[in-house]
Amino acid sequence: MSSSVLSPARESEINSEITGQARRRRTFAVISHPDAGKSTLTEALALHAKVIGTAGATNGKANRRETVSDWQQMEKDRGISISSAALQFSYRDTVINLLDTPGHADFSEDTYRVLAAVDCAVMLIDAAKGLETQTMKLFEVCKQRGLPIITVVNKWDRPGLEALELMDEITERTGLLPMPLTWAVGISGDFRGVIDLQRERYVRFTRNNAGAQIAGTEYFTPEEAAAAEGPTWTDAVDEAALVVESNLAFDVDEFHAGRATPLLFSSAALNFGVKEILDALVDHAPPAAPRPDVDGAARSVAAPFSGFVFKVQAGMNQAHRDHVAFIRVCSGMFERGMVVTQGRTGKSFATKYAQQVFGREREVIDQAFPGDVVGLVNASALRVGDSLFVEEPVEFPAIPLFAPEHFQVARSKDPSRYKQFRRGIDQLEHEGVIQVLRSDLRGDQAPVLAAVGPMQFEVVEDRMLHDFNAPMRLERLPYSLARLTTAEAGATLANLHGAEVLLRTDGEFLALFNDIWALRRVEKNHPDLRLVPIGTARA
Ligand code: G4P
Repeated sequence: MSSSVLSPARESEINSEITGQARRRRTFAVISHPDAGKSTLTEALALHAKVIGTAGATNGKANRRETVSDWQQMEKDRGISISSAALQFSYRDTVINLLDTPGHADFSEDTYRVLAAVDCAVMLIDAAKGLETQTMKLFEVCKQRGLPIITVVNKWDRPGLEALELMDEITERTGLLPMPLTWAVGISGDFRGVIDLQRERYVRFTRNNAGAQIAGTEYFTPEEAAAAEGPTWTDAVDEAALVVESNLAFDVDEFHAGRATPLLFSSAALNFGVKEILDALVDHAPPAAPRPDVDGAARSVAAPFSGFVFKVQAGMNQAHRDHVAFIRVCSGMFERGMVVTQGRTGKSFATKYAQQVFGREREVIDQAFPGDVVGLVNASALRVGDSLFVEEPVEFPAIPLFAPEHFQVARSKDPSRYKQFRRGIDQLEHEGVIQVLRSDLRGDQAPVLAAVGPMQFEVVEDRMLHDFNAPMRLERLPYSLARLTTAEAGATLANLHGAEVLLRTDGEFLALFNDIWALRRVEKNHPDLRLVPIGTARA
């Protein structure tokens, strides 16, 4: 932080305070294929940090009481998590920022935005299922972003695959070398505890109140463990040694470089192995570090405040229908009320209403440091990807949009509510709920909504009705494929069947095609047309 009114001594004191705070931060997201236990683990982590007294009351989705992460009605009805927000808690001498992500693939754009805001990901694998479709896609997204991954084999209390089989699958399919930090004692379905390979001890767990409370934990030396568990212990020791020998002993640089993944075993539902995950984050996950700007130059964490918006969400508080922009702090100290500049518009605004938001819980934030997430309430001018700063300007890299695969024309059901209809569509587009395309043919009355997954349309319909009182009709278009193109392509494709060019709100022209054959035909007949695949595929 620098300011002309501060003495050099005070300035250096503040700089070292910010650097020290950044070093204490661990900012991560839990990601997984749906049903691997992401929500259950989130609750268990919060329970361990003593944020909440009882984890989820019951872990069943249907009868789960108010959980800390699921909040919207649709989420409740469907038992999925659509929105994301951040949970902050202290653990040991660190500050943990846990960012929630939606589990369903239809909302993978949202997950991707969250992954842009974290420094590490905890990837959950269901012990009975191994690597599933979305697990693989998420591994891929993390790899593209160079994001280090901690892998957790969850549901070890249930019969499932063999541990060594899982290690082979991870190595072969993700290309990452698993580096066990803990190893399960007892086969899947007979989860007794873990070997803490770093501290060289046996951690034995006992069930407590069906997982609603922290599991009972006892620590044993290897000799005591051998006496207590007999061959179950020696089998676990042999297996762990085999993996360490054939892969590598824990190496923090390999982890941070995204070449190897620390691996742990857990039962989120029983709260087994959860403390060990927190310890792994504290001991090994990267702290908040300098973030590169669009030109690749890293802005030091001690530089004046900067951050970027990774998520915008309205209607989080049904009573207030407010609009929250979530900002990942990249450098400096955020102080509530400070005046920041929005890079895209050059406008300044005061951050009077700064909050920490997780589920329905909100707390006013007075200060935040690199790695933290600040929710700015009613900062309605902010859009996903916007950079914010004080003093020296900075622009962080844009968060890329995904390639849409579903397209529907939206029309207001009630012509007298056209204004509300337009306002709603614009708002949902700014929030990143949906992409919006326009064509001269249909005009502004009938924008084309473009989605990565069809459930996004349901969210739009629901929000338009309840948040904007603007009922609308949707009409499906036959397209399933989009390519970036030029304005001129519009004329070429105008008379072709199965293709059309539309303008996206960000100024990009998108050529839409019914299917791969329609695209191939155009590529063959018009080899000079610019038709570029859109970078980020659905995760
Ligand atoms: P998600 O957010 O990744 O989608 O998963 P979620 O936490 O909602 O968990 C999905 C189901 O798996 C839940 O069961 C949950 O209780 C269960 N589960 C999570 N972690 C564990 C674990 O470590 N061990 C066991 N045995 N179960 C776990 P549910 O909603 O009641 O549905 P189901 O049990 O009928 O599938």
